[in-house]
Amino acid sequence: MCSGTEPDADFAESSATPAAVPVIRVLTLFPDMVRAVLATSIPGRAERQGQVRYEVTDIRDFAVDKHGSVDDTAYGGGAGMIMMAPPVVEAVEKVRGRDDATVILTTPQGETFSEQLTLELLADLQAKGELILVCGRYKGIDERARDLVVTREVSIGDYVLSGGELPALVVVDAIVRRLAGVLHDEDSAANDSFTVDRDGGLDCAWYTKPPVYRGLTVPEVLMSGHHANIEKWRRQQAAERTRQRRPDLAPPEPQGGRVPRQDRKERQQ
Ligand code: 6GU
Repeated sequence: MCSGTEPDADFAESSATPAAVPVIRVLTLFPDMVRAVLATSIPGRAERQGQVRYEVTDIRDFAVDKHGSVDDTAYGGGAGMIMMAPPVVEAVEKVRGRDDATVILTTPQGETFSEQLTLELLADLQAKGELILVCGRYKGIDERARDLVVTREVSIGDYVLSGGELPALVVVDAIVRRLAGVLHDEDSAANDSFTVDRDGGLDCAWYTKPPVYRGLTVPEVLMSGHHANIEKWRRQQAAERTRQRRPDLAPPEPQGGRVPRQDRKERQQ
């Protein structure tokens, strides 16, 4: 985990030949929307600190005619507009730094996004120095664009959104917050929900000031200053919450009830 540092400290401390800043390229029909989100909060701070670079490309700049056409009706009929292949293919070919760059299309037909996929894409970004996301539109994209340039398809869940921009931003946020040095201690990544420290389960309940609000108090153990007890309470709370809300994420209960405390402790290590 990185400790809180001044924005330029990472540069000052790095070796004479710092690794190139990884770049995430987003191709979209709504560049203003994408830029606004990527300039905000932790993704924005990551770029300002030089830990990642974003390059947002307007697919309309690669339109096939002077009217800026990037979509059309489907051959064979059917409602809705389909993104044309040429603008997408030519935009990807223009922006990508290497032929083997991973090109992700956001589409409801893709594999479901997860913390596991986040780590895969993070490793890919670090290995190749770039990652490309193409924001699909809901109705679809000409299959030939997929055939020619898309290497991976990602969905963020089983519901329909108007376009692939929000899903692409979800993917970028999840990856960037895991880049080394992006999160400060106070952002506490290590024990977020779904992380190894939480056994792949959910996070515990959290409280801050005031100590009493509308008659509701804070669990006493949290005010005790007893760090071992606090950590134990948090682990139990997280495990209980995971069992109740997301039994699919909970570690299986052994035959005969709960795991003895000693075993639970070892499993965490
Ligand atoms: Cl990636 N795209 C769209 N249009 N809708 C979605 C999605 C993606 N993931 C969930 N719903």
